[in-house]
Amino acid sequence: MAKTIFITGGAGFIGSHVVRLFVNKYPDYLIVNIDALTYAGNLENLKDICDAPNYKFEKADITDFQTITTLFSKYQPIGVIHLAAESHVDRSITDPFLFVRTNVMGTCNLLHAVKEAWKGDMEGKRFYHISTDEVYGALQCDGTFFTETTRYTPHSPYSASKASSDHFVRAYHDTFGLPIVISNCSNNYGANQFPEKLIPLAINNIKHKRPIPIYGKGENIRDWLFVNDHARAIDIIFHNGKNGETYNIGGNNEWTNIDLIRTLCAILDKKLGRRNGESAELITFVKDRAGHDLRYAINSSKLQNELGWHPSLQFEEGLEKTVDWYLTNEAWVDNITSGNYQKYYEQQYNQR
Ligand code: NAD
Ligand code: TYD
Repeated sequence: MAKTIFITGGAGFIGSHVVRLFVNKYPDYLIVNIDALTYAGNLENLKDICDAPNYKFEKADITDFQTITTLFSKYQPIGVIHLAAESHVDRSITDPFLFVRTNVMGTCNLLHAVKEAWKGDMEGKRFYHISTDEVYGALQCDGTFFTETTRYTPHSPYSASKASSDHFVRAYHDTFGLPIVISNCSNNYGANQFPEKLIPLAINNIKHKRPIPIYGKGENIRDWLFVNDHARAIDIIFHNGKNGETYNIGGNNEWTNIDLIRTLCAILDKKLGRRNGESAELITFVKDRAGHDLRYAINSSKLQNELGWHPSLQFEEGLEKTVDWYLTNEAWVDNITSGNYQKYYEQQYNQR
């Protein structure tokens, strides 16, 4: 019988890359994508693999304990890779409770369902929780980095909800012996990212000659990692990470927001045949985000030294690939801005 792996949030940005990697690389696994298809879930992200014999989609909300328990009985997975979450900081400022519900309660539901399903037989099982570097809080511009032992100091409702979920995952390991692993990754970029996050939002606005909003002075620093490199790290950690451990994942690639946007503008000027400097005229400084973390930077040497993972791309190369993807997949962005992508599920799955 095929080994079944649950991937939650597989219709989202990072989840869809992880699902594709696992479906293509592991024909002996049955990959079950569990996703509630919120505004951020888009099955079009997976249309190239949706008919693969080792792939199944289940529309389910991780906060619904009964449904999740039923899915565990139906498939009896030996592994769970948990990405489902509310993921956008600005949304967490306007609706913190949604983040508590999905990120904290949803994770607890999954943990409890897993504990019940694997009771008495944890051998060969693994619950892998995907988290963020934002749980560590903010760094000054002083050359320091987040390590796996940095104290948790979340500032936004998003990072507080992810920190809480990390604590629950560890608590289920320490209290009930659940086999777990956690990774905390820096900012991702690449194909299929919802155009509310900085890079796809800027690409789309530049294309349409709309203002590019930069919060505050644009001096905040993020460490950017190409999403496919994150998916590769998840594969390595899921298979080779040590039980109970945390691994930091980062690109060693720090950029101020303003420098990043200027670089994007220059790439798009070339690709769109615009005068050099034309797109940068769209840069518009706006009111800063409340509680805006100054700097994130990850030390990923544990993952690099112990498990042999390294980022594969230089940032400029990754940005070019990303820009090319957004320019050649205009229909994907248009479907999101029109809301049409949410009809895809009904077309594809309701008739099956
Ligand atoms: P995303 O917002 O693009 O996707 C989230 C997915 O989760 C969507 O498909 C959505 O439908 C699904 N989902 C939301 N609520 C759900 C629920 N109640 N039940 C079932 N499914 C639900 O997010 P992303 O950017 O792909 O992030 C994925 C994970 O990686 C998150 O846990 C996030 O915290 C973490 N992470 C993201 C980044 C980043 O830069 N994007 C960096 C580090 C860690
Ligand atoms: P974002 O993509 O929302 O990721 P996160 O907040 O999780 O790091 O934002 C990345 C950086 O870009 C962050 O410092 C906030 C800033 N930002 C802007 O300046 N303008 C924008 O319109 C957005 C969405 C983000």
